[in-house]
Amino acid sequence: MSYALSDFEPLITREQLDKRLDELGREITKDLDPEHLVVVGVLKGALVFMADLIRRLPPTITCDFLRLSSYEGTESSGTVRFDFDLTQPIKGKDVLIVEDIVDTGLTMDFLLKALEVRGPRSIKLCTLLHKPARTKRDVPISYLGFTIPDRFVIGYGLDYEGQYRNLDHIAALRPYRANQAAEA
Ligand code: IMP
Repeated sequence: MSYALSDFEPLITREQLDKRLDELGREITKDLDPEHLVVVGVLKGALVFMADLIRRLPPTITCDFLRLSSYEGTESSGTVRFDFDLTQPIKGKDVLIVEDIVDTGLTMDFLLKALEVRGPRSIKLCTLLHKPARTKRDVPISYLGFTIPDRFVIGYGLDYEGQYRNLDHIAALRPYRANQAAEA
């Protein structure tokens, strides 16, 4: 079964995102030392969230990116690998991982373990969304945008089969479409 944009309905508006991003930016700025902070974006999903978040942080932070793959269609495959890695060592640095969504937690569990062995001074996780109903691995989330129900979401960086990342808000698959897929 494949979905069109009309199969999704708004879940989190642009205004709600902006307001929460302001709060997160203030919280992170207060907590972390901007001279030693490396903000690590997990591509591709964190791209929009990261771009908006870093513009709310002090100008001395640095940014790096990595890319993992773990997901196919609307169900997590459970296996995680690096598609590409950070460009700089993180030894002795304060690392803030920026992720789009923690779903089962398998991806972030893998990443936290993979980065911890590189000797950073600290690692914190900031995720825009969390779906607690789907947790398979508990991961420590230091900064959370929104807790959401167990629904497949798109927009603001999140995709369905590569599309819809550039929607300016978060939309969720309409329940009747999700039920049709489950029955098929
Ligand atoms: P996890 O390993 O199950 O926590 O999945 C993490 C990754 O799956 C995220 O970084 C997303 O790329 C993807 N993902 C999980 N849930 C959704 C969703 O509802 N929409 C789009 N992508 C999702």
